Amino acid sequence: MIQRFSYSPILSTGAVVKDLPISDGAPLPFTLDGQTFTFHMDEKTRVYGLGETVRGINKRGWIYESFCTDDPNHNEGKRALYGAHNFILIDGKQKFGAFFDTPSKITFDLGYTDSDILTVTPESFALEVYIVTADSLKAVVREFRSLIGKSYLPPRWAFGYGQSRWGYVTEQDIRECADRYEKAGIPIDMIYLDIDYMDRFKDFSVSPERFPNLRKLSDDLKSRGIRLIPIIDAAVKVEEGYGVYDEGHEKGYFCKDENGEDFVVGVWPGRSVLPDFLNPEAAKWFGEKYKALTDLGIEGFWNDMNEPALFYSEKGLLHSFEEIKKMDISQLNALSFFGARDVLARLQNNDDDYKSFYHNTPSGKLRHYDVHNLYGAYMTKSAHDALEELCGEGNSLIFSRASYIGAHRWGGVWTGDNASWWGHILQSLQQMPGLNMCGFLFSGSDIGGFGSNCTRDLLLRWMSFALFTPLMRNHAAAGTRSQEAYAFGDTEAFRHIITLRYRLLPYLYDSFRYAVENDEMYFRPLRFDYEDDEVAAAVEDQLMVGDRLMIAPIYTQNAEARHVYLPEKMTQVRMHEGDISTEELNKGWHYVSVPLGDVVYFTIQDVELAEPVRNTSELD
Ligand code: NOJ
Repeated sequence: MIQRFSYSPILSTGAVVKDLPISDGAPLPFTLDGQTFTFHMDEKTRVYGLGETVRGINKRGWIYESFCTDDPNHNEGKRALYGAHNFILIDGKQKFGAFFDTPSKITFDLGYTDSDILTVTPESFALEVYIVTADSLKAVVREFRSLIGKSYLPPRWAFGYGQSRWGYVTEQDIRECADRYEKAGIPIDMIYLDIDYMDRFKDFSVSPERFPNLRKLSDDLKSRGIRLIPIIDAAVKVEEGYGVYDEGHEKGYFCKDENGEDFVVGVWPGRSVLPDFLNPEAAKWFGEKYKALTDLGIEGFWNDMNEPALFYSEKGLLHSFEEIKKMDISQLNALSFFGARDVLARLQNNDDDYKSFYHNTPSGKLRHYDVHNLYGAYMTKSAHDALEELCGEGNSLIFSRASYIGAHRWGGVWTGDNASWWGHILQSLQQMPGLNMCGFLFSGSDIGGFGSNCTRDLLLRWMSFALFTPLMRNHAAAGTRSQEAYAFGDTEAFRHIITLRYRLLPYLYDSFRYAVENDEMYFRPLRFDYEDDEVAAAVEDQLMVGDRLMIAPIYTQNAEARHVYLPEKMTQVRMHEGDISTEELNKGWHYVSVPLGDVVYFTIQDVELAEPVRNTSELD
């Protein structure tokens, strides 16, 4: 059952697809005091949900803020990352889901201030609250998902393996990447283009010097079963004579400051403006621009910097220089250093900037800050709607960094700028079920880690987990050490792991499709399948994948074995140097040895493996 409580919404966020009557007078499971919703948790209450956030699968004990944020330091102290996924699932004496549908900032204190008290405080009361009840955790999620509509289903090739790197700066770099994968006999379906392919970071442009013939490059690779997946950034370079800028400026399609002028920000291209994705006409216009690349044979994209990320606003930068000028330089000391540094650091993703520009929406002129969490979602919608037309229904791939619930219908997400740290393998595992609850099924993290330097063992362990994630992409930041599957000398172990991904693909893809069609989760905490099992309830580092499989990856440096909890009798499947062996194991705890390069998973019923392939074009 779903109940709807409406406070003072300023616009429809687009998250919900069912038109439910407002539940007049029905009791809320929360007490409401001012703008704070409060729920008293008993000792055993667990709280799930909140999509892409740090810390455990059970979110209890920390405080989260939904405010899409470009923050590359994903540590446990963070309250917000790139997505705003305002669904929580309370699992205690009472079991229910609660979706707080609001386009602006909202805080979830899940027993942080007071360990027994959960509070939810939206910054503005432009809000609808949906309370979802059902007789099991899975059923609550199913019911919630029926409220927000079917998740995005990308084409099957998007489930292949992809290699990415910020720093493939020429066509030659891309060809070399394809050749080296081919030479090592490692399957691959996609190579990603980061901002380096563009002409001075201008959206929908291609550098004539470094990528002189993208059409040919795309065709050549496609004939080998490899697709190119370019990035598109949210902001558009200000440059007269650049068609996208000229047209958008003339038509009034960029976000405006309080005086009605284009609001100028600084991101990769330098002076830039922000397409107004909340204006349906502007969104449609921007979407049509993808044609410049689909005309070259491109069928997939990743949308970036769409929180939107702002390095600075022109207004803010000028103000900062003024502040620094005012500083007393006759008395230089540590305070002047920290003072000057803070003035500049405050420029990035500054709330004052988010409060200084406006959207032209169907509900009238709205201040960006009040609808901030919708920006990335509507960029995804713009791309999705256009690509369905340009490439045909269901034939294209789109995923995004920023998101809001609703965008799960239009595309996937990746979890942004993680690091080459062991803890981020676990973090990625723990993010997946939360994302799935909120509808985001097509997701994955940068394998090997984006920031920092990767090592061979880290990459092997990371891949052994990520071979189960729908989006399986190795990606790294500029300036970091190479981390392709061929970058560490011996390629055999990588070949076996990635080959296993393809051998499992029929099961993984069917499970994904089933989850989409039936509003199920593809990744589930053990708790969701074994509600009567108190041991399973506390397991935070294993996941159910589809109906028949469970994973328990290694995510600590130098570990060669780990404890695994089997909530029922299962078959342990081991891949060792490409060979598969099985062993029946009873319910309970097991200490399972997993030497580096082996992959171990567990099945409830047989999961058939396909024959090895070079990429998805060779699958039946
Ligand atoms: C930030 C993105 O999160 C990252 O994946 C990308 O490589 C850089 N922007 C450069 O485009």
